Amino acid sequence: MTQPRYYFPGDTEKVNLDFAKLGFDYHPCPYRFEAVYELGVWRSRGVVEETSMAIPEGSQCLHYGQQLFEGMKVQTGIDGKIYAFRPRENARRMNEGARYLQGAEVPEELFIRGVEEVALANLPYVPPYGSGASLYVRPFYLGIDNNVGVKPASRFVFRILVTPVGPYFKGGFGPDQGKSFMVSAYDRAAPMGTGHIKAGGNYACSFQPGVEAKNAGFAEAIYLDPAEHKYIEEIGAANFLAFKGETLLTPKSPSVLPSITRRSLLQIATDIFGWPVEERLIELNELDEIDAAAACGTAAVITWIKEIADADRRWTFPFDQRWQKLYDNLLGIQTAEIEDPFGWRHEIG
Ligand SMILES: Cc1ncc(COP(=O)(O)O)c(C=O)c1O
Repeated sequence: MTQPRYYFPGDTEKVNLDFAKLGFDYHPCPYRFEAVYELGVWRSRGVVEETSMAIPEGSQCLHYGQQLFEGMKVQTGIDGKIYAFRPRENARRMNEGARYLQGAEVPEELFIRGVEEVALANLPYVPPYGSGASLYVRPFYLGIDNNVGVKPASRFVFRILVTPVGPYFKGGFGPDQGKSFMVSAYDRAAPMGTGHIKAGGNYACSFQPGVEAKNAGFAEAIYLDPAEHKYIEEIGAANFLAFKGETLLTPKSPSVLPSITRRSLLQIATDIFGWPVEERLIELNELDEIDAAAACGTAAVITWIKEIADADRRWTFPFDQRWQKLYDNLLGIQTAEIEDPFGWRHEIG
């Protein structure tokens, strides 16, 4: 019988997990980070062990959805170091949400310290370089007053859980891994609503469209603009990209979540490859003239689209080598295989 192993925060030996076979699922890690906001100040509880949380039954997050979450990845580089990708951008996007939901902002330094502490505490669970897996980091934020009136909380919890993950869409990236998406008849966000922040409520109401798309044999739902149902918005938990001739296109809309992956890919496209980029309205009908399409996000990375279907039309797209170039460059920067001209890698240890 093998002896049980003990491990302490800071240990580097990896746990006995087949990292290369992981899907995008929750796998509990020993430690999470937590901070509490009360009487106007944030207090870090540091790294804690409890996987469950005790919060007041009258909490705004439970009744009124005063809740936010983020998603980012920590990866092992080719040099053996641990890197987060642009965590400050996630902190800023969470605070954009906190302002909209009338909650206390999380200081950026607290957010980043939390990401560092929780990644280091769970080091044996950070997938090794070359496994194709990464440590998914899920910061989240809850309004927790004991209350029944419809009003913002004055107390908040900020917690970061982590879990090792593989590809979001089964199969990951590759020329034979194109996915099919279904144009949804539903909206995920209102025209002047909360689509641009990562509030949990936006996702609860995407369950029905997402499940319908999956039941119909598609990977996910694609949403159109909620005002006219004429322009492409985004795809499940990913933004939309397309090549039309030389130009990389992406939808411009106030109800799309501003993806950090998308922003990074657009910058790689312009600054590294010199490709023209346009952020503008993209009509669904314009798919007739599109040469290649893809979904992008922290979880989806780049997932190229082989088919989009609505109630009575189907568009098919080939794999385009430019997706490969963008993918290789993004992952190369994230894992220190290539230099990082933009300062996006955040070294943790
Ligand atoms: C609705 C939605 N769009 C796009 C994205 C991609 O954003 P990012 O690249 O910052 O992960 C996400 C994931 O966070 C999302 O939930």
